[in-house]
Amino acid sequence: MYSYNDLIALFSAKFANNHFPNHTPSLYEPNRYFLSMGGKHIRPVALLMANELFGDITQDAYFAGIALELFHNFSLIHDDIMDNAPLRRGKPTLHTKYNQSTAILAGDVMLVKSYDYLNKISKKHAHQIIELFNKTAAEVCEGQQLDMDYSQTNTVSINDYITMISLKTSVLIAAAFAMGAILGEASVGNVKHLYEFGKNLGIAFQIQDDYLDCFGTQENVGKKIGGDILENKKTFLLLYALQHASHADKKIIAQQTNNTNDNKIEIIKEIFERSGAKAWTIELQNKYFDTALQHFEETAVLSKRKVAIMELANFLVQREH
Ligand code: IPE
Ligand code: IPE
Ligand code: MG
Ligand code: MG
Ligand code: MG
Repeated sequence: MYSYNDLIALFSAKFANNHFPNHTPSLYEPNRYFLSMGGKHIRPVALLMANELFGDITQDAYFAGIALELFHNFSLIHDDIMDNAPLRRGKPTLHTKYNQSTAILAGDVMLVKSYDYLNKISKKHAHQIIELFNKTAAEVCEGQQLDMDYSQTNTVSINDYITMISLKTSVLIAAAFAMGAILGEASVGNVKHLYEFGKNLGIAFQIQDDYLDCFGTQENVGKKIGGDILENKKTFLLLYALQHASHADKKIIAQQTNNTNDNKIEIIKEIFERSGAKAWTIELQNKYFDTALQHFEETAVLSKRKVAIMELANFLVQREH
């Protein structure tokens, strides 16, 4: 069995940056630039770990893992345009370094490349994997649209938020675990439990992402801290503050809505602290993390096989980057 660190190294070697041709460098150089910035590779590693629960890692699992990582990078390139994000992985985002049209096309062709890898999966599994992949990809688009819609309205509930982050983020993590299991010939019950494990873990992961966007450091996170605040993103932090902050602080939040200046970040951050929103993070996150663990416990494989996935799960919610 591989450890978490082994699998990161193994995948990173297979994911060597040779996905794009040398011609038309004005399109493919941006793609190479984006992938060269790395990333944590958690989705393919989750897929490989789930695959290894049921036997040796298969070639199909590597193809599916590469496809997922390319899809993820495509979604980030377009997400950074939508979010007006200047920084990613410590470097300028694609639309900032090049321009928006190039970033749109570089994202499109990254998505096409991910289908090249799906197309390499053996006939036996291709249909089921591509079906799950396509369902997931459509859900990610739905979640991203809700994310944009919610930034324009104040009538968003915590349940709406959980639905939105499930779609934009956690279904891809759920699909990673499920695909690994499918490719490992797991039973239908095990595939379902691993999907639900990934889905709840993915919610806890996005809660951590939203926390770090506000309370992390740019050095660790590699993004502009406070970007969600500037964009009026309806994170759990803002939703909690909108409900529980003092009357005066609620007024300040309303006054700050159209402020595009960076001074907004400190003002809102302080309200997140004063209102108890920041302190609520752990409780909210644990709710989903615990549900995730229940599904992992229900997954019928020997517990000694589960060590690496537990390590990944803990990292996803405790990470500072
Ligand atoms: C960022 O994902 C986008 C979210 C869904 C929160 P990651 O935090 O996995 O990004 P990289 O690939 O490691 O940079
Ligand atoms: C991104 O969520 C989810 C997808 C890319 C589908 P965020 O917008 O919070 O991700 P970051 O913080 O930019 O990585
Ligand atoms: Mg973003
Ligand atoms: Mg976004
Ligand atoms: Mg974020």
